[in-house]
Amino acid sequence: MSSSDGKPDTPDSGVSRRSFLKGTGLVISVPLVSGVTEVTVDGAQVKVYGPTKVPVTLSINGSAKSVSVQPRTTLLDLLRNDLDLTGAKRVCDRSTCGACTVHVDGKAAYACSILAIDAQGRKVTTVESLEQGGKLHPVQQAFVDNDAQQCGFCTPGFVMACKAFLDKTPNPTPQQIERGLGGNLCRCGTYVGVRAAVAQAASQVPQRGGRRNG
Ligand code: FES
Ligand code: FES
Repeated sequence: MSSSDGKPDTPDSGVSRRSFLKGTGLVISVPLVSGVTEVTVDGAQVKVYGPTKVPVTLSINGSAKSVSVQPRTTLLDLLRNDLDLTGAKRVCDRSTCGACTVHVDGKAAYACSILAIDAQGRKVTTVESLEQGGKLHPVQQAFVDNDAQQCGFCTPGFVMACKAFLDKTPNPTPQQIERGLGGNLCRCGTYVGVRAAVAQAASQVPQRGGRRNG
């Protein structure tokens, strides 16, 4: 048996593409906009994105940013390649090292593992937003004061992870600091400095509700 394009169906699949389409009730209808097609699956309308670029709008550092990207584009690639926000770094590209850490709705997240298209409707914050009016954020300053970087490649991700951690845990114990930063790796081994930076920043980061620690 062969399919309509003349190529044989996969011999051991047991299901031809034609029978799959029939069985699922999949019907492709008219494309709505470039890169977006609407299909009917079991009577329900479902949008299918790609493979060409689709328009997306994301909230980045408090501003709406609209670009066109392929649906497979990660948030990290969109930030670095389309918006020139290169603070978040690509190292492992698979949710292991934390070099790409940003905040999504106030929580630390690996930008390499979130599709840009899925980040729509959420508030994305990058390390570029921390410094204000030429003044480093207390977490950034604490990294400088405690010499918490060598090559610096992991540092932006650590800074964002530390800020999210301190927002949630304003008065951390040393054990909480160690555990709270477990999602970020430093190949230069600056962990002692990083932990000291977090301890310093804990006494300086403005707390929710306007309080300050210490
Ligand atoms: S680059 Fe994203 S976790 Fe390593
Ligand atoms: S300072 Fe080099 S990887 Fe962390």
